[in-house]
Amino acid sequence: MLHLAGIESVILEQRSREYCEHRLRAGMLEHYTAELLSDVGLDERLKRQAFAHEGFELRFGGERHRIPMADLTGGCKAVMYAQTEIVKDAIAARVDTGDPLLFEVSDVRLDGVLTDRPAIRYRHDGRDHVLQCDLIAGCDGFHGVSRPSIPADVLTTYSRDYPFAWLGILADVEPSTFELLYGAHENGFALHSMRSSKVSRFYLQVRPDENLAEWSDNRVWEELQTRLVTDDAWTLAQGPITKKDVTPMRSFVTEPMQYGNLFLAGDAAHIVPPTAAKGLNLAVADVCLLADGLVTWYETGRRELLNAYSDVALKRVWRAQQFSRAMTSLLHHDPQDNMDARLQRAQLHELVTSEAAMTAFCQNYVGLPFAGRVHHSVRASPVR
Ligand code: PHB
Repeated sequence: MLHLAGIESVILEQRSREYCEHRLRAGMLEHYTAELLSDVGLDERLKRQAFAHEGFELRFGGERHRIPMADLTGGCKAVMYAQTEIVKDAIAARVDTGDPLLFEVSDVRLDGVLTDRPAIRYRHDGRDHVLQCDLIAGCDGFHGVSRPSIPADVLTTYSRDYPFAWLGILADVEPSTFELLYGAHENGFALHSMRSSKVSRFYLQVRPDENLAEWSDNRVWEELQTRLVTDDAWTLAQGPITKKDVTPMRSFVTEPMQYGNLFLAGDAAHIVPPTAAKGLNLAVADVCLLADGLVTWYETGRRELLNAYSDVALKRVWRAQQFSRAMTSLLHHDPQDNMDARLQRAQLHELVTSEAAMTAFCQNYVGLPFAGRVHHSVRASPVR
């Protein structure tokens, strides 16, 4: 977005290109995220490879209920395209521009973020470097250096851990469904998702301290079949499992998302449990807003948008936190709490029988429109 507006930037990445391009993450884009990727010209492979879904299925008590989200949201679809693929597309586009993108950078330190000339000290290619800049975007994830560079007494953090985790499974098998299947079962949550017409992605609720060694391939398939069971004898196709991983579940927010000329975006500032697949979508919404503020500042000298970044971003962040938590409690089973299981069933019944409830759910699921806008400078983008 900065490149399209003719603004110079340097990207520093701790990992190798290889690592970034193969890190397995979620795979569902909100309608507005897909639209933004298209606006910035990052949709060439996405257009060819992604599936757009107009609905999904909720399964519980042996019943299946299709939720027609596109009909209920004025045509918004969920776009199935893996985060890993977006990372590949974004890196390739960046490399094409010739603008700096450095991998395997270490010993990063931020200096003078309260001044109008902050600096980043880092090590790359065996040498120490200092980068002077106007502003730093801290897009370095939950474990990055940006958030800890802000004095602790300036920040308020909110967090919650859940008594479950997700066992993620990648298998070389054609999906047994065209749309996503979310299952709420007394053994726990299950999700049937997909990566292509030949690769399926599944998730099973497990304990946070789950031992992967206890999950043989057979047990995985049996448990998926059990948790997604329907009265009409639906069966799940099986294939070679190529990967298993455990994802912890956490809700986390830090406020504010700005300190002087350091702006936090994405997981550096907030984490959502994976149930509603909001993590990447929130990060894209953050950087869209931040880029808008930045471009406006360079073009007009006005800082109002930049100054409002944290407040505006956090509104969306909290909405997504609320929805991700609600969707997590709606579908996961807490063995310690039998009251909860009954309340959950009542809520599921409301969701599948009340159009008002279903519409509200779908509006959150497909995501809210972005607050920021994309700028294209005539010089940087002659085609537009
Ligand atoms: C995924 O495919 O990784 C995925 C899809 C939908 C979700 C969560 C994860 O709600």
